[in-house]
Amino acid sequence: MASVKREELPVAVEIRPMHEFDVPVVVAAEYAGYPFPWSEGIFRDCLRVGYVCRVIDVGGAMAGYGIMSVGAGEAHILNVCIREEYRCRGLARRLMLHLLERARAAGMREAYLEVRPSNTVASRLYISLGFEQIGVRRGYYQAAAGREDAAVLRRVLQQDP
Ligand SMILES: CC(C)(COP(=O)(O)OP(=O)(O)OC[C@H]1O[C@@H](n2cnc3c(N)ncnc32)[C@H](O)[C@@H]1OP(=O)(O)O)[C@@H](O)C(=O)NCCC(=O)NCCS
Repeated sequence: MASVKREELPVAVEIRPMHEFDVPVVVAAEYAGYPFPWSEGIFRDCLRVGYVCRVIDVGGAMAGYGIMSVGAGEAHILNVCIREEYRCRGLARRLMLHLLERARAAGMREAYLEVRPSNTVASRLYISLGFEQIGVRRGYYQAAAGREDAAVLRRVLQQDP
């Protein structure tokens, strides 16, 4: 794999709530980022049901987004995506740390996510953040040739008192 060039970000980085007006830009990034993207309706549903929906802005431009559900002691990180031109600058890591901190502050004990085993970049990120694989969901994802398994990852956020 080619070495990753790390570039400084000379402009302000801000993580803020996603709004309805962000959805068209988010959907465009989603379609560019994934071979099997979420639809616009899924993003609108996530906002409507009150999931933690965040965007990360760089110099006022939407560079990526993250979506998480929280409840019953568990956080589920459902989507994290950084637009290609903003990758390899630590933005996904910042967004993940923000989501994990939100989950912890909301009293969640564990965070879960699914990742395609073929997505080595994302898997490496999650492992470096303390996630561990706890299982596999067979045929969970659509794939070019049929279906692909999902690795299920968990990170403990806090111990019971
Ligand atoms: C996965 C993704 C979110 C990473 O975003 P990013 O902002 O480039 O990631 P970061 O710069 O924060 O990198 C964090 C870690 O990811 C890994 N990583 C990132 N880019 C990498 C690359 N090109 N090659 C290898 N590892 C890489 C490294 O472990 C890195 O850790 P380091 O900072 O200690 O080197 C981004 O590639 C993306 O949006 N991909 C498409 C959507 C997707 O697959 N989302 C995840 C679904 S589970």
